[in-house]
Amino acid sequence: MAATRNSGFDDPFYQPADQFFPANNKLALTFDDITLATLYSEILPRDTQLDTQLAENLRLNIPVISSDMDTVTESRMAIAMAANGGLGLIHYNMPERQQLSEVSRVKNHVHGLIQEPIQVAPDQLIGDVLALIEQKKFGFSTFPVVDDKGKLVGLLSGHVVKPRYAKRKVADALTPRAQVHTITQKELGKDPIARADKFFNEHLGIHKLLVVDDKDNLRGLFTMSDIERITQERNAQFKPARDAHFHLICGAAVSATRNAFGELDRERILSHVGALVERGVDVVAVSTAHGHSQGVGDTVRVLRDAFPKLPIIAGNVTGAAGVEYLAECGANAIKVGQGPGSICTTRIVAGVGIPQMTALYVCSRAAAKKKVSILADGGIVKSGDIVKALTLSQAVICGGIFAGCNEAPGDVMEIGGKFYKQYRGMGSFGAMKAGSAARYGQPANPTQKVAAEGIEALKEACGSVDRVLAQLIGGIQSGMGYLGAANLTQLRDRARYIRVSPAGMREAAPHDVVELKTGS
Ligand code: XMP
Repeated sequence: MAATRNSGFDDPFYQPADQFFPANNKLALTFDDITLATLYSEILPRDTQLDTQLAENLRLNIPVISSDMDTVTESRMAIAMAANGGLGLIHYNMPERQQLSEVSRVKNHVHGLIQEPIQVAPDQLIGDVLALIEQKKFGFSTFPVVDDKGKLVGLLSGHVVKPRYAKRKVADALTPRAQVHTITQKELGKDPIARADKFFNEHLGIHKLLVVDDKDNLRGLFTMSDIERITQERNAQFKPARDAHFHLICGAAVSATRNAFGELDRERILSHVGALVERGVDVVAVSTAHGHSQGVGDTVRVLRDAFPKLPIIAGNVTGAAGVEYLAECGANAIKVGQGPGSICTTRIVAGVGIPQMTALYVCSRAAAKKKVSILADGGIVKSGDIVKALTLSQAVICGGIFAGCNEAPGDVMEIGGKFYKQYRGMGSFGAMKAGSAARYGQPANPTQKVAAEGIEALKEACGSVDRVLAQLIGGIQSGMGYLGAANLTQLRDRARYIRVSPAGMREAAPHDVVELKTGS
């Protein structure tokens, strides 16, 4: 019979986690220090399943979360992450009210519905509309026409938005309200995409469907091209991550806020999280640099008592004692990572932190006992790192990988012909001035002396989250195929590790060639 299992010759070299990490207990290891051995496989990468359960009420369709950082996750990023099956954690470096509306934007987002369509007014000139298109570089020229109270008065079709009509008023050129196709919010039902798709099937040649409320105020716009793209995507392997009411899921970070006397501000924490829960938040993350601390533990306890069913993420820790402590306080998922992040300087500034694979191994063993999940937070720069992290955790949290995406907050800037977006550590001077100092146990008053534990940096602009995630998921599935793992549980069970020398590391990347940049 052909050998489908490992031969005895493999065993001393390619070891399971419980042999490999204790045997290397004198040295802290990170992603590039190890490699995973291939195993007999009957699994094709495209058939692998990536769903992951982080808490009883929190399931993702892909094991990827975007960091709660002010240059990474606000509503646009969280929508893109959930639409791809993952999760975005909205950062807390903003006023509480703003964070609430960011969460509402995600929870009210209807995929394919443009909720705030660009609109024009009846008394504008067509010339003004042409100037707007030119200035904002819009790739479309049909606009809903709305009066000063938000009421729909018609549709300005692209056919009349021409320089020859520049002096004409929008009011004279619009298709009047009675002839504009609309649907009310209520008529959209549980599956707005299917409803809009049906409409476009039934109305030959109509490419726009406007959404109005009971008072005929404009509430959104469907375009046929968006709906076609989404219906094609529905056949995609990884479905959007949704709650029981079919809304995209959304997480929000909160801090262990203290009052003027330095005590935990229980009332403020409870009212903040209460408001988040009212808006439909699916998980809160008590995010600090040092999670194995009284403030974080007490915050988790207060939240667990008040919201027994709410999934809670807490961190960050790098040891089993920290995992046990936060699990006993009531957390469901624990963030592991101190200093691995691409913008982190905690290890340099404080001399503290553990390389990520060793930290994940130690934490994962405590987590399994306590029945909580582990989130590998920081230091991930390539899909292979994610595969390695997922051998010891239930999901990964990434900042830098997504900071250059269109959906990350901030504008694209051009430097020397290349395009960049800002990316900064939440412990950098800039971010702490904007409010995140508490996360690093630093004084909130920016005039006081603070020790930064992160840097301010740039990331090359890298297009849409869809594109970046497609690459990452392809890599994860490929890794699972090599290990013969049909799902993430099998990946954790089957992983076999070995150390890599610096020469082995050089061998792993392209070498001794001049690389040609093909494709995008
Ligand atoms: P990556 O490597 O994905 O890391 O860019 C993102 C993670 O880094 C953490 N983080 C920080 N850690 N100083 C730190 O030591 C900082 O200023 C800082 N800001 C973010 C955080 O866990 C994030 O998810």
